[in-house]
Amino acid sequence: MSLLVEIEKLLEEGKGAIKNAASAETLENVRVAYLGRSGKIKEMMGRIREVANEEKKAFGQGMNDLKKSLEKLFDEQKNILGSSKAKSGPQPDPTLPGQSQPRGSRHPLTQVTEHVVKVFERLGFTIADGPEMEDEFHNFVALNIPDEHPAREDQDTFGLDNGTILRSQTSTVQIRTMEKIQPPVRVIAPGRVYRPDAVDATHFYSFGQIEGLAVDTDITFADLKSVLGMFAREMFGSDTKTRFRPSFFPFTEPSAEVDVTCIFCHGKGCRVCKQQGWIEILGCGMVDPNVFKSVGYDPEAWTGFAFGMGVERVAMLTLGVDDIRRFTENDLRFLRQF
Ligand code: DAH
Repeated sequence: MSLLVEIEKLLEEGKGAIKNAASAETLENVRVAYLGRSGKIKEMMGRIREVANEEKKAFGQGMNDLKKSLEKLFDEQKNILGSSKAKSGPQPDPTLPGQSQPRGSRHPLTQVTEHVVKVFERLGFTIADGPEMEDEFHNFVALNIPDEHPAREDQDTFGLDNGTILRSQTSTVQIRTMEKIQPPVRVIAPGRVYRPDAVDATHFYSFGQIEGLAVDTDITFADLKSVLGMFAREMFGSDTKTRFRPSFFPFTEPSAEVDVTCIFCHGKGCRVCKQQGWIEILGCGMVDPNVFKSVGYDPEAWTGFAFGMGVERVAMLTLGVDDIRRFTENDLRFLRQF
């Protein structure tokens, strides 16, 4: 039998094998058997030695055609198997609703903090920051609270192994800011503070504070009153009134505590304000000259006011939350309400 006839036979045989391959795996086996490195085509090529010189060209041509034909058939069959497999599997249903991603929202304490900060930004204050891990100088001494001062007891805080403490108040940022920049100063400093308080409905060992500080020439108590009055009206409603009660803080002189008319009863008296009509929201005062001295500001040249408020306290009042612990329990039923 002439080798050309054998080529023809091999083509028919290969065609049949490819057509009959019903799976990708069988088809691959067929490919290896025919087109592989020691497959039937390679083997047939080796027989060129048996071919007479004048027929070698025709034999080579025939082998080439054979190889090309089988490769083409192989590709076609592969496509057929691939697409039928896709067709037989589960089909996507474009009419099904998409998978919705639940939308998160800001924590109520973050919302309140951002609201307060925004009001002061509109009044010309910029955000300042300081570390939560502090030293005694910034948390106490520079704020006019020397070692044996009784005010330390109210603000007893956590000591860390490396000799530092967790700050008990954001007033530290007053000092940090004045150490860095010269007046005029107008900063608002939100941050976390720590105190080893026994936990109950209104106390927690860590809470947020927002500190404010303004230093310039000729700042007076009238500036303090007008700024805090504007803040209260922006934050709690335009009919909100403020009341300044004399108080004491080591770092301000004079000092005051500020009440606003109750946002729920507008001053008439209700359960939230304990029938007082007023709710205390912050402490404030004129910066004590000793504080200026501790940061190297000339107390004769500069005057200033400072204030500090508790974020949880403001949030509890404005959002009507009756237990401070709710804010840290990560209970979505609570958080989703805001
Ligand atoms: N640091 C005070 C506290 O934690 C709050 C405070 C009162 C801050 C009066 C002030 C201020 O800046 O002037 O109780």
